[in-house]
Formats: sequence, C-alpha cells, structure tokens
Amino acid sequence: MVDYVFGPVRADDTKQIVDLVRSSFDESRAPFLAYAQPGMAAHLAVAVTHPAATPDRVLVSARAVGDDRLLGFADFRVLGDGVGFLSYVAVDESARGEGIATALISEFLAARPHIVTMKLDVFRDNEPARRLYARLGYEHESTSAWATRPVPSGGSEPQVAGLPNALAAYSAYGFCELAVATASTSATVGLLGPSILNARSLTAFLDDDLLAGVATMFPDLSTVFVSVPEAALTEITVHYRLEGLSDRMSLAVPGRTPRGSAS
Ligand SMILES: CC(C)(COP(=O)(O)OP(=O)(O)OC[C@H]1O[C@@H](n2cnc3c(N)ncnc32)[C@H](O)[C@@H]1OP(=O)(O)O)[C@@H](O)C(=O)NCCC(=O)NCCS
Repeated sequence: MVDYVFGPVRADDTKQIVDLVRSSFDESRAPFLAYAQPGMAAHLAVAVTHPAATPDRVLVSARAVGDDRLLGFADFRVLGDGVGFLSYVAVDESARGEGIATALISEFLAARPHIVTMKLDVFRDNEPARRLYARLGYEHESTSAWATRPVPSGGSEPQVAGLPNALAAYSAYGFCELAVATASTSATVGLLGPSILNARSLTAFLDDDLLAGVATMFPDLSTVFVSVPEAALTEITVHYRLEGLSDRMSLAVPGRTPRGSAS
C-alpha cells in the first residue's frame, strides 16, 4: 500500500496538472474547459506564485511518499458564508481508487473548520466522480445544460472595454473575458481557445448581432457555448446542440453546524 503526502501545489507542478486534466477528460469536452487549455499552466503558475493575490483559491497536491511526481490535485474556492467550492479534482489513472480524491477534499476541509457546506459541479455522465461524491454524502441541488450553436456571421465590430489587456491575456493563457457593447446591448463573454465563444448567459447566446460582432474580431471562432439552467433550454428557439448535463451538488459537512442554525 502506497502512502501519499498532501500539500500546496508548486509552480513547477502546473504543466503536469494541465496534462493530468487533459488526459482525464473526453477529448470532445476539452475545447469548452479553460482547465484543458495549454495556457492554463501559466495561469495556474501565477496563482501559485502569488497566493496573496487570490486568497480564496486553494490548490492541493498529492504525491506518493518519496516520489516527486504529482499524482493528484484539487482546486478549491473559499466562498462567503462558510461555503467551499470544489472547482476541479483529478487523480492520475495509475493511482485511482486509493482514496486520493477523498483525502484531497478532507485536507481542504480539515484546514478550514469554518466551512460548513461544500458545493461542486459534475457532468451527468461522469460515473466515477458521481460515485465518489454520492459516497461522501453530496446531494443533487440543480441541473445545468451545456448547449452550443454555430457562430452567426454578418456582424460589425463591437466596442470592447479594455481590449489591449484582454488580448494580452488571451495570447498568454488562451482564454479571456471580453466586455462587449453593441448598439443595442452589452455583455461579458469568454473566449476559450481558438474556436469557442462562451456566451455566459442565455441572452447573449441568442444575440446574433453580439455574437457575429465578436466573430469579426476573432475569425477562428466557430462555436458558441453556454451553460444554463436546464429549464431555460425550453426558451431556446435557435438551432442548438445539447452537449451534456451538469449537476450542482452540495454537502452539509458532517459534524459542522451551518451559520444561523441553533446549536
Ligand atoms: C473522480 C476521481 C477524481 C476520483 O479519484 P480517486 O482518487 O480514484 O477517488 P477515491 O479513491 O477517493 O474514491 C474512488 C473509489 O475508490 C475507493 N477507495 C477509496 N479509498 C480506497 C482505498 N484505500 N483502497 C481501495 N479503494 C479505495 C472509494 O471507495 C471509491 O469507491 P467508489 O468508486 O465506489 O466511490 C478520478 O476518477 C479522476 O481523476 N477522474 C477524472 C477527472 C474527473 O472526472 N474529475 C472530477 C471532475 S467533477
């Protein structure tokens, strides 16, 4: 039985983390995930090197004792009101089923006794992860649908606030946010790799002018993506493709009393 050691993620772990994430996902989903973009290694390195800049973000690593190779990692957020969020967890295939993911979550919670609720999102078809969360006591809270449509054409270039900084981030990391304004509306959308435009809201997903306008600036964009509450899909009249369902799950951390509850 191998013993594992858990600790902070180091700047030189970040390339291994991105490789681990890419190999842990179905290739068809990678274009939609900032975590699967090669530039994520540089993005994570900034978070690891300057932890004070993002105090709410916690990255935990797992290694076998005496072996420097990263075998697992988890990326958490500390939200307000005693809520923690598991943004991502991945374990190397060679080390799965040995309790590493369970221990990464326990490490995070043990160091933060004020966290009374944990939340996370998991794809409906991710059986191993769903089994893990069910065993830990997580319960279904809501469902989001991932939908895509082709980028519409024929737009004119919109205003983009802070464009030089956004372009610099895009070229360094491969993803960024754009605060876009057209004659009729404004929205923040995301660029994800060369081909995906993340609409971020149903309104933007349905706004042909806005989407086509952004596409004039980034001609390699081909697909618009959105994640919305499942029920919102009934409002969509454009031709879209359902890419998958994702469930928000939450856990009342055992033995901890939620704020405001009588003890
Ligand atoms: C989901 C994932 C992170 C789980 O990691 P893991 O380290 O294998 O998880 P654990 O070992 O803690 O738990 C997995 C199983 O091993 C079992 N297990 C835990 N400790 C064990 C031990 N010491 N010996 C034997 N089995 C053990 C658990 O009971 C659990 O069984 P279950 O599948 O019936 O729940 C891993 O499969 C993975 O990286 N998948 C790809 C990335 C991914 O999908 N991430 C989740 C995104 S939401």
